[in-house]
Amino acid sequence: MKRIVFLTGAGMSVESGFKTFRGNDGLWEDYPVEQVASHEGWLADPTLVNNFYNNLRKKLYAAKPNEGHRLIKELEKAYEVTVITQNVDNLHEKAGSAKVIHLHGELTKVCSSNEPYDSRYIQELPPENCEVALGTRAGDGSLLRPFIVFFGEAVPMIEPAAAEAAQADIFVIIGTSLNVYPAAGLVQYARPGTPIYLIDPDDAPVSGSGRVTHIKKGASEGMKELMRLL
Ligand code: OAD
Repeated sequence: MKRIVFLTGAGMSVESGFKTFRGNDGLWEDYPVEQVASHEGWLADPTLVNNFYNNLRKKLYAAKPNEGHRLIKELEKAYEVTVITQNVDNLHEKAGSAKVIHLHGELTKVCSSNEPYDSRYIQELPPENCEVALGTRAGDGSLLRPFIVFFGEAVPMIEPAAAEAAQADIFVIIGTSLNVYPAAGLVQYARPGTPIYLIDPDDAPVSGSGRVTHIKKGASEGMKELMRLL
């Protein structure tokens, strides 16, 4: 089976009711991104950051994947599909996608603030109990924090993601402005000659644009068109 690798961003989840980042002048769900997605922001006002993620998590548990997410899952019938996502939501998983790599963390999870990647302290919060009370501690005694890659932090999942990108027979980018590295550099791992599709109602700076087919549509309509083209 041919391998399709998707790289998705905030635009993927717009039709499920979530906002993008840069389209709202750098606001993420009405807050400055630096305030709610940086270590400094977390130290400066842990109550605000904690409430922000509690609210977003509640919203996420009520949200549904859209047609775009569902069509990506459907491609598994004919392709080996890997989804590399910058999104912290779990809408690809909810749509049933089997292989999802989260570059920027997962909103459904919390972790130690000393050792965010120590799996002993990573917990998945169930929908019925998805709010973290401020001051709750991880197993190592540090404050629990959202399992989100904050600005300036390393992106350990970039290595498996790059390995997937290098094996792609087809590379599809959906709903990302390609402003944030290292995610934005992943397309460069695609082998020469690999067809690249961009699904986005706006332009995005994809390198090697000679081989890029731009489907200038939203995620659902764009996925329908991609399926016609494949
Ligand atoms: P951006 O907000 O930068 O880009 C969103 C893209 O989605 C834009 O190119 C829009 O044109 C496009 N878009 C809007 N509506 C769409 C729709 N219905 N269907 C498809 N595309 C649509 O978001 P990202 O590139 O994902 O990091 O941002 C990257 C990272 O920046 C995020 O993962 C986040 C932020 O800092 C963390 O959360 C750690």
